[in-house]
Amino acid sequence: MTHTKTAESLHPNLHLKRDGAIHTLRIDREDKLGALNFAIMEALGRYIDGLADDQSCRVLVITGTGKGFVAGADIDGYHGATQSAFDGFQRRSRRTFDALAALPQITICAVNGYALGGGLELALCCDLILVAERAKLGLPEIKLGLLPGGGGTQRLPKLVGAMRAKELLLTGRMMTADEAVAYGAALEVLPQEKLTERADELARDLASQAPIALAEGKRVIDDGLQSPLASGLTFEQRVLGALYATDDAKEGINAFVEKRDPNWSGR
Ligand code: COA
Repeated sequence: MTHTKTAESLHPNLHLKRDGAIHTLRIDREDKLGALNFAIMEALGRYIDGLADDQSCRVLVITGTGKGFVAGADIDGYHGATQSAFDGFQRRSRRTFDALAALPQITICAVNGYALGGGLELALCCDLILVAERAKLGLPEIKLGLLPGGGGTQRLPKLVGAMRAKELLLTGRMMTADEAVAYGAALEVLPQEKLTERADELARDLASQAPIALAEGKRVIDDGLQSPLASGLTFEQRVLGALYATDDAKEGINAFVEKRDPNWSGR
């Protein structure tokens, strides 16, 4: 497989680097702490829709710029917006976030700073969340007389439990990076300067695994969380049986027996 490196802007505030099987998407709107307006949300949604069919990419890293990862929806856009424009933004966010959560690729969110409202909701659609020491995460919409609309009321309780989610959502309090890890809303806290390095290291580790098993591993866990235990266990064994029939499983087992590194074909 050829290893290509490219960089492009999907939108003036959205930059994409492709490095072989790893994509890194950087939200770059430092003056507004990464706040997401309709145009950025649309560009993000278009990219994610395309990525779902891109078999050359196996891992996506999402990060931000400066002291904001994403400080939520662009509140300036809410100011004086019509009801239909407001509702349209929420529908667009839902499509984008649902598509992100459903990606077959493994997604890593490297939270460099404020992840508030839609910023935390974006992170919650990713598989693994790394947080910089200075990151602050929360759902402050109640302070505007609103509530989250990008999945925060549903995805946060699944990670931290209903009581902690209610405390955060109903007070609008921000979690520190350490609290986010302690509550189960993030995986690791990193010093600011190590965040990108650690996200890249994790991305390379994931991208080096057997591709079909990697994607199926994510799917079995995500689908299992939405199904009764017996169905999840049956699905798990079906997936395992199907994996045993792949070239990669033969290669993985042969490589173990022959005491060498496996060479995955993705078949
Ligand atoms: N939408 C639009 N602009 C935003 C924003 C948002 N969600 N969050 C921050 N900004 C803007 C600020 O208005 C400010 O712009 P300005 O320099 O043109 O005045 C700039 O980003 C820097 O933010 P500022 O508030 O000056 O930084 P701070 O360090 O004092 O405070 C926060 C940081 C995150 C605590 C504060 O910006 C905040 O509460 N933001 C709103 C978070 C929120 O409610 N998100 C959910 C939205 S539904």
